[in-house]
Amino acid sequence: ARKVILDCDPGHDDAISIIIAASKRSSLEILGITTVAGNVEVEKNTVNALKVKDLLGLDVPVVQGASRPLVKDSEIATEIHGESGMDGPVLPEPVSRKTDGHAVDFIIDQVKQSEEKVTLVPTGPLTNIAMALVKAPEIKRNIEEIVLMGGGTFGNWTPAAEFNIYVDAEAAKVVYESGVPIVMFGLDATHEVIATEDVQKRIAKIDNNVADFVSELLVFFGDMYQEHFGMAGGPIHDACTTMYLLKPELFGFKHVHVAIETKGEFTYGATAVDLLGVTGRIPNTRFAHEVDQEAFWNLFEEILESYGGV
Ligand code: BDR
Ligand code: CA
Repeated sequence: ARKVILDCDPGHDDAISIIIAASKRSSLEILGITTVAGNVEVEKNTVNALKVKDLLGLDVPVVQGASRPLVKDSEIATEIHGESGMDGPVLPEPVSRKTDGHAVDFIIDQVKQSEEKVTLVPTGPLTNIAMALVKAPEIKRNIEEIVLMGGGTFGNWTPAAEFNIYVDAEAAKVVYESGVPIVMFGLDATHEVIATEDVQKRIAKIDNNVADFVSELLVFFGDMYQEHFGMAGGPIHDACTTMYLLKPELFGFKHVHVAIETKGEFTYGATAVDLLGVTGRIPNTRFAHEVDQEAFWNLFEEILESYGGV
């Protein structure tokens, strides 16, 4: 089993990513879920992670992390995810509690003590991951890959920048310059997996409480994307990371150099993806640029079906 730490800011699509990783179709071993300030304040993201944990009956630690980005002020996305960060479905208040300690130390300890290499799966701003790499650089050799959602060749928060990278571009810079192999699901890939009405109908037919929860998430998320971006459904961005870990062949990649913009007046938080190799820099990223959509939604359906009959 591949060992993973899910570092997230749930978040509709973050929740879906957790559901994929925890399903019977997955052979991932989740060492823990760590939370970070992003879509909403970190405390709210933690409550949402605990609610998802309870819904799934998942027995893994949830550890809270950074409450703000490294350098600049927080930025939140309530217009996409609602006041709670996971508006739409109503889940009971969590029964389980977060684990004491800080996400950064949890990540460091888990990576250090693991006999096999650990894969980090960030689906929010990269603050916790950057802090862990700076505090304990020796963990780098025991990290298999960082499989992240962020960036792209266009933006959704500014014309040039995607939300996760924009919120903490300084942290993203640390991560991309760390030397740890990166697998990147930016908007180029995630906007290929939009939960359209057709997709929503397929999921609505699946009869179990986890699929019902996902349906409700997708309705809210889809309405927000329609309202803000005029899109016919929400891209389930973060889910690409764990779908990839279950079935890498779903995606096509280019091995490229990616640099993070931290100075530009109009481009702060952009990911400079060197698709044509013009910089001559050694590639640091496997950049997802295509998705087998049919296979993706088929597997997604199977994953949700696997929650039935428990
Ligand atoms: C990213 O931003 C958040 O709103 C989503 O959860 C995803 O991680 C998409 O830009
Ligand atoms: Ca997220």
